[in-house]
Amino acid sequence: MTSAAAFRASLEDNAAAVDAWLETVLPEALGHAAPLYAAMRYSALGGGKRVRAYLVRATADLFDVPAEQALAVGAAIELLHAYSLIHDDLPAMDDAQTRRGKPACHIAFDQATAILAGDALQALAFEVLAGPLLQIEARTSRALTWGLARASGPLGMCGGQMIDLLADGLELDLAGIRELQAKKTGALIRFSCEAGCILGDAGDAHREALLAYGDRLGLAFQIADDLLDVRGDAAAVGKDVGNDAGKATFVGLLGIEGAEAELKSLHNEASTSLDRFAERATLLRMLFGFVIDRSY
Ligand code: IPE
Ligand code: IPE
Ligand code: MG
Ligand code: MG
Ligand code: MG
Repeated sequence: MTSAAAFRASLEDNAAAVDAWLETVLPEALGHAAPLYAAMRYSALGGGKRVRAYLVRATADLFDVPAEQALAVGAAIELLHAYSLIHDDLPAMDDAQTRRGKPACHIAFDQATAILAGDALQALAFEVLAGPLLQIEARTSRALTWGLARASGPLGMCGGQMIDLLADGLELDLAGIRELQAKKTGALIRFSCEAGCILGDAGDAHREALLAYGDRLGLAFQIADDLLDVRGDAAAVGKDVGNDAGKATFVGLLGIEGAEAELKSLHNEASTSLDRFAERATLLRMLFGFVIDRSY
């Protein structure tokens, strides 16, 4: 059995490995574009739970994929995620002041630099997946690149962010909020599980089970995030809280108890979908527990 302490240590080890890997693709640059590199480093390094990279690693491990491959792919997804956070915090979007325990990128730098840093982190994510850094077969690289594009574009994260911005006027019901969350947050989390399957050339049954887990985790992740907005401690959470009043969230529609009940049922469903992996999926099971009980 893996203890809670061992799980937390593995989460921290993963975060340290992601940071070390990202250092290698985010040099401190001189020259006229230096502020762009500085803003990219500011937002991509030294913070974040690195849950998406952890998911790539934990799913890839089920298929005995070399750890360095999973790490590079996980780091690429974290680059894309960091871009999404920079843009999400901009005044035109959530107008947030704090991210990962420090001033948001557009406050530490300026809006124009923050927009460019997000753009450049996104480009770098695809550079990693499509380029020679990742020593994998071309068809695997293509599947990963395509998958990340779909998960982050209009059918995924960006589409979800658009619905999020419009949600005030849309009066979404539960199904509508599920769709919004599945896109803005779920798509990247689902893809993190899919990436492990792509690297491991997983068969259909395994892939289906891990995607079912990823879908539940994605929804649960955003519900837990929305609960933190309502009752989290700003210092522990490391970002603005109390910002979602009036937004379309599960918590807004169902209340805290309703959201907690939804988390419980997603947890049960996710657990069942991992049954076929038995003990080998212990870390994925523990990750779900961590995501729904977290304080940051
Ligand atoms: C925050 O994501 C944005 C959401 C999708 C809710 P995380 O909670 O994974 O943020 P970091 O990467 O740990 O800072
Ligand atoms: C944003 O959701 C998810 C993204 C796609 C970036 P939130 O707006 O709730 O994320 P936080 O709370 O600012 O991290
Ligand atoms: Mg937002
Ligand atoms: Mg936000
Ligand atoms: Mg939030």
